[in-house]
Amino acid sequence: MKLLLTGGTGLIGRALCRALCAQGHQVTVLTRNQRRAQAILGQNISLMTSLVQWTEEQEYDAVINLAGEPIFDHAWSERQKRVLLASRVDLTQQLVQQMALCSVKPRYFLSGSAVGYYPDGIAPVDESHAPGTGFAARLCVSWEQAALQAQSWSVPVTLLRTGLVLSARGGLLQRMALPARLGLGAVVGNGQQWMSWIHLEDYIQALLWMLKRAPVAGPYNMTAPVPVTNREFMDRLCAQLHRTCRFAIPAGLLRLGLGERAALLTEGQRVVPQRLLAEGFGFRHDTLQAALQDLLAHP
Ligand SMILES: NC(=O)c1ccc[n+]([C@@H]2O[C@H](COP(=O)([O-])OP(=O)(O)OC[C@H]3O[C@@H](n4cnc5c(N)ncnc54)[C@H](OP(=O)(O)O)[C@@H]3O)[C@@H](O)[C@H]2O)c1
Repeated sequence: MKLLLTGGTGLIGRALCRALCAQGHQVTVLTRNQRRAQAILGQNISLMTSLVQWTEEQEYDAVINLAGEPIFDHAWSERQKRVLLASRVDLTQQLVQQMALCSVKPRYFLSGSAVGYYPDGIAPVDESHAPGTGFAARLCVSWEQAALQAQSWSVPVTLLRTGLVLSARGGLLQRMALPARLGLGAVVGNGQQWMSWIHLEDYIQALLWMLKRAPVAGPYNMTAPVPVTNREFMDRLCAQLHRTCRFAIPAGLLRLGLGERAALLTEGQRVVPQRLLAEGFGFRHDTLQAALQDLLAHP
């Protein structure tokens, strides 16, 4: 298969490139920095730095769209919100416009979104649930709407409502494991907010599974079957590291320090991967304990 991937140098993208190459697929990555991408991805991956390089004759069987400015790294000023939106929505619009020019359209278009699409809450939500109203939810809705425009060219659009991706090589788990190892693990607020997580290996396997089936449109919750509360997450993480979770960071203090983006920590969604389960995807790491054992025992 020939694939075009945005966000290929990221946490998920790097693992996906490795997996696709191992299966003999031809991967082209759209990147803003060719030299850095080459260093990260090696020689087996083709690179493009602008969608202008996607000529009409170039046919891709699948386009996987994962690029996006990191959501937690900077305060959500109005300017940063525009950067977060543009890096997802504008890029997705450009991808879709480029598809319109292709005489042979991609058969698969898998486009990013996040569990932040759903409102904060304690009741389980599946793919049919309505979106939330906060900034993260509006960002996801706009991102999804931009991708769905590809349906105008009869390209089936699969929306990847991604949970917290757990990897030993970066992302959330690395950030949380460091203080926990030092005995400074802490729950956020009352610890009752939900965390919908997924092991990176299951995420990649789910994408490969989608590419092996007939293209299916619509949203997929890319999360493990058993989400946990923040309290349970911290207790299991600390136990795996032979530590105790003794502290709690007051939600108000986080809001003071982080502003609006504190919601990513103080709020959460209890997301169920209804479609992956109903359609027979087999998770390798379906409980947090199993995932943490795998990731932290063999980093
Ligand atoms: N990891 C998670 O837990 C998680 C959870 C929910 C949703 N997601 C979403 O899933 C996608 C992939 O996640 P990830 O963790 O692999 O992301 P990541 O490691 O932050 O990588 C994202 C990639 O997007 C590109 N990018 C970054 N800033 C950009 C900007 N301002 N404009 C255009 N491109 C930019 C970069 O590629 P180049 O530098 O090569 O251009 C980067 O490698 C992201 O969109 C993320 O929001 C991730």
